[in-house]
This record gives sequence, C-alpha cells and structure tokens, in this order.
Amino acid sequence: MEFQEVVRRRRMVRNYDPSRPVPPAVVDRLLANALRAPSAGFSQGWAFLVLSTPAERAAYWEATADLADPDPWLRDMQNAPLLIVPLSHKQAYLDRYAEPDKGWADRAEERWSVPYWHIDAGFATLLMLLTAVDEELGACFFGVPPEHMDAFRAAFGVPGQYTPIGCVSVGYRAPDRRSPSLRRGHRPIEEVVHRGSW
Ligand SMILES: Cc1cc2nc3c(=O)[nH]c(=O)nc-3n(C[C@H](O)[C@H](O)[C@H](O)COP(=O)(O)O)c2cc1C
Repeated sequence: MEFQEVVRRRRMVRNYDPSRPVPPAVVDRLLANALRAPSAGFSQGWAFLVLSTPAERAAYWEATADLADPDPWLRDMQNAPLLIVPLSHKQAYLDRYAEPDKGWADRAEERWSVPYWHIDAGFATLLMLLTAVDEELGACFFGVPPEHMDAFRAAFGVPGQYTPIGCVSVGYRAPDRRSPSLRRGHRPIEEVVHRGSW
C-alpha cells in the first residue's frame, strides 16, 4: 500500500472477525517493524508480550477488565485474535545513559526532560499500527487500567521493571462503533503548527 494511503486509512478499529486469526508471518512482520523504531541512545528498552491463543487472550481480559458486565466496547474488543502489549523499561535507559559516551553515571531521572522509555515504546507501537493497515488489518491501541497493573504482571510473569504502555488489539475488521471522541474532528493545521515562533 502506498505510504500516504497507510497514514490516511489508519484509525482505531474496535471490533474484529473472531474466526480469522492473524497469520504468523504477519505477526512476525508487525513485531519486526516495531523493532525498527528509533530509540534514545539506541537503548531499545522495550519488550512486547504477544498473546494469540484463546487462553492467553482470556487471561489478558480477565486480568485487566471487569468482565462481569462488559460494555459493548469490551465485548467487541475481546473478538481480537491477537493482542500485543508493548512494555517500556526505564532502567534500560538509565543504564544505557550511564555508559561513557552518554555520561549520566548518576542515573538521575531529573536529567530526562521527558520519559524517553515510554516515547520509544510508543514509536514502536505506531509502527505496528501502520503495519496493520498495510496488511489490511484493523488495530487499536488502548490503555491498561492502573488498578489492574499488578494483576496483569502476575498473570504473565512480567517483571516489575517493565511497564505496559497499553495494549494493541489486531485482527480482521468487523463493523465497529465509531468512537464519540471523533466528533472532536482533526484540529486544523493553523491551530497546532507554529512556524518560526509561537
Ligand atoms: C495514548 C492513547 C491512548 C488511547 N486509549 C484508548 C483506550 O483506552 N480505548 C480506546 O478505545 N481508544 C483509545 N485510544 C484511541 C483514541 O481514542 C483514538 O486514537 C482517537 O480517538 C483518534 O481516532 P483514530 O485513531 O481512529 O484516528 C488511545 C489512543 C492513544 C494515542
């Protein structure tokens, strides 16, 4: 698919055909492309938890969602045949920047203007979202509720140093509900771009 078409067509898809798994080669391509993302100091302090079997996906939803009375959003999202949880790893950045070529040997967090560990995991995630479009798949990035973090880590044996920045659902598109957020529309370029000065 032409690049501009990929960008234009990307949108969060919140329902999937549960009978069509994502082919393993496509899963591999999503992940390989994620690893092409830029990262501060080439730290690559990220990890990706891939959940593709029904048991793995059920464990994800059980750990992170209130399934007793699922709203339509949650019901449809559970149709996704693939979940990929991108995780950031702050310590990898503190250690990388303590190396001689960076020189932040004190590992002080105040040195960081913004948390690059989360940013880099986000860049990798966007590459997966764009790859999904290129593969004519739907995908959605959504949050892991903070109150479910411990249950999430326990369910999958995730070390405490790793923070899930969210979750990406992937699958073949099924008719879905339009997000009410979209009523906001895209902000016009003049409103957000400051050329030369603010
Ligand atoms: C950091 C981040 C968190 C998001 N969290 C959720 C979420 O928890 N649930 C959800 O349905 N969509 C979530 N979204 C998707 C946004 O609602 C969506 O990107 C926005 O409404 C624009 O729509 P589009 O991506 O389809 O163009 C999130 C997006 C981002 C970038």
